[in-house]
Amino acid sequence: MKNNKLVMIPGPTPTVRSITDQMGRETVAFGDPAFVRDFKELVINLKTLLKADGECFVVAGSGTLAMEMAVSNVTKRGDNILIVSNGFFGDRFIDICERKGLNVDLLQAAWGEVISPEEIESKLKEKHYAAITVTHVDTSTGAGAPIQEIGKIMRNYPDTIYIVDGVAATAGEREYVDDYGIDILFTGSQKAFGVAPGLLILWAGKKALERRKSIGTIPEYYVDFEKWIPIMNDPAKYFATPAVNMIWALKESVRLINEEGAEARYDRHTKVSEAINKSLEAIGFKLLANEKDRCSTLSVVLYPEGINDLEFRTKLAEEGVMAAGALAAYAGKAFRVGHMGNIDDHTVYSTIAAIERTLIKLGYEYEKGIGLKTLLENI
Ligand SMILES: Cc1ncc(COP(=O)(O)O)c(C=O)c1O
Repeated sequence: MKNNKLVMIPGPTPTVRSITDQMGRETVAFGDPAFVRDFKELVINLKTLLKADGECFVVAGSGTLAMEMAVSNVTKRGDNILIVSNGFFGDRFIDICERKGLNVDLLQAAWGEVISPEEIESKLKEKHYAAITVTHVDTSTGAGAPIQEIGKIMRNYPDTIYIVDGVAATAGEREYVDDYGIDILFTGSQKAFGVAPGLLILWAGKKALERRKSIGTIPEYYVDFEKWIPIMNDPAKYFATPAVNMIWALKESVRLINEEGAEARYDRHTKVSEAINKSLEAIGFKLLANEKDRCSTLSVVLYPEGINDLEFRTKLAEEGVMAAGALAAYAGKAFRVGHMGNIDDHTVYSTIAAIERTLIKLGYEYEKGIGLKTLLENI
């Protein structure tokens, strides 16, 4: 009998039944009063969840569109922007910003490490930046940036917009928009919210909204804050068709988060990630991210000598777990396993068990069962 496949890549993440039920509902008109009410409630709940007093945008698209949306609304051609990159997704901002005619300065960490708040501060002292981008969790490395500490520094630079890419973090890692001094935060529905791919969610604080106003017309149309603000405040209005079923699914996700308690959810992510990491290390794997910088939403796991990436991940899929390959220079040298969103203990145990079965089938020599034993002692 074939094993069910758990989607343990770092997004999309496993979707629970009550969320897929919302995606499978009969679609209604986007002007349907019940849907309009649901959409309005969702936007309010998302603002409350992240303690964000400004605007929250829920728009059809992926995380990359959110990156464009963030940059497009607070910068204009010729502005200086500081990109703080801790890996592949931080680097993605370089291309986005250069295409927009921005002057890009880059702080680039070695993979597995993060740029410190002090390094950022000394760069900010050199010249005026219209904005700075920081990737909270870079999905290519599994390292997490100290966004709260960076936010404290950013309070000394009131003319610089602080953009945080939360795609692999939001709803899994602790993030509070206003408390942390973040001006723009965004994510995608398919990550720690545990919904299928298809929605971007972006929170913009007062400073970012004022900056948008001060710029006047921007070249971009679909991602323009000014086009969406009337809709987010009154979803009975139309700008572009909302993804009706995805909005319902996201609403259910937020309900589940509130039922669990946001703080409890963040603590769960910390506990599960520490247990998984210990378990992987007990088996004999090494992790790419520095211990002090590790995030709690995914792990990037380096192969020991003698394990072939494709063979390992193909066998692992047969054993019931989909893991992702590593990116860029680490392709073939590591695999990536997500542990964010609505995953229960069964899923965590199944993942480690499938990794152990795979290693045994590949003839890898290690202390059989040590991964599961370590998990039992730590979860
Ligand atoms: C940190 C980060 N930023 C941006 C993106 C791009 O998001 P998407 O693939 O949804 O366009 C990803 C995708 O994994 C990501 O992990």
